[in-house]
Amino acid sequence: MPATESESQEQTLERLGLEPESLPRHIAVIMDGNGRWAQQRGLPRIEGHRRGVGSVRRTVEECCRLGIGQLTLYCLSQENWKRPRLELDLLMELLRRYLIDERDTIMKNNVRLQVIGRREGLPPEVIDEMNRTLEMSRDNDGMVLCLAINYGGRAEIVDAVRELSRRARDGQLDPEDVDETIIAEALYTRDMPDPDLLIRTAGEQRVSNFLLWQISYAEIWVASVCWPEFAEEHLQQSLVDFARRERRYGGLNG
Ligand code: IPE
Ligand code: IPE
Ligand code: MG
Repeated sequence: MPATESESQEQTLERLGLEPESLPRHIAVIMDGNGRWAQQRGLPRIEGHRRGVGSVRRTVEECCRLGIGQLTLYCLSQENWKRPRLELDLLMELLRRYLIDERDTIMKNNVRLQVIGRREGLPPEVIDEMNRTLEMSRDNDGMVLCLAINYGGRAEIVDAVRELSRRARDGQLDPEDVDETIIAEALYTRDMPDPDLLIRTAGEQRVSNFLLWQISYAEIWVASVCWPEFAEEHLQQSLVDFARRERRYGGLNG
């Protein structure tokens, strides 16, 4: 049993030697390695995805408990459509079920759901459940849980450029006024802070088209465990390591 189950938030932070101010405001996670986890055990890949839902649940609850402001989870990339139809169908079904089954936990934890990515291409039954959970949680003011579904970082930039070009064409935007704020506000993540900490599981050291603009100064933390094995202790270790990093943003020490 993780030590956290019997601890208060303050006790956990004290045990880890953390101050609330040293926590990341926004954690983004590339949940990778479901297929490998299953294959290593002679199971079908989808079994890894199924087990991965348990890690999502644990991570959401632990982030809420620790007072993290936002958690963004990479659930499906645009590039993942290259996978076999059967795997995609099962992923869609898991997603639909998650959006229904987690409503109680979302409401109990005062979580506000957000979704980023292109809606086109998603099955209507997934979109319906998504809209219901978004609507149900819209007035919650606790942690923001942002699911990146059918998301691509380059596609997001393409969509933003199209939007800004339309506004310029219609005379609503002077191209000389385009700056980083205007671009950030045209992205799917408008109104969200940039991630401070980017976690990737299963050992791979790449960003796989995730939040390309937003992770400019995120601290990257790679876990060797596959996503189905990711537990509270790994998250806590990432927070301890994060607190020790020195973020310089191009400036000089201290
Ligand atoms: C991550 O696990 C989940 C998704 C991309 C949907 P993978 O399915 O990529 O698992 P590996 O990386 O093949 O082990
Ligand atoms: C990134 O994992 C996408 C998600 C976790 C949803 P991938 O497994 O698709 O990334 P690559 O193919 O190893 O770069
Ligand atoms: Mg993978």
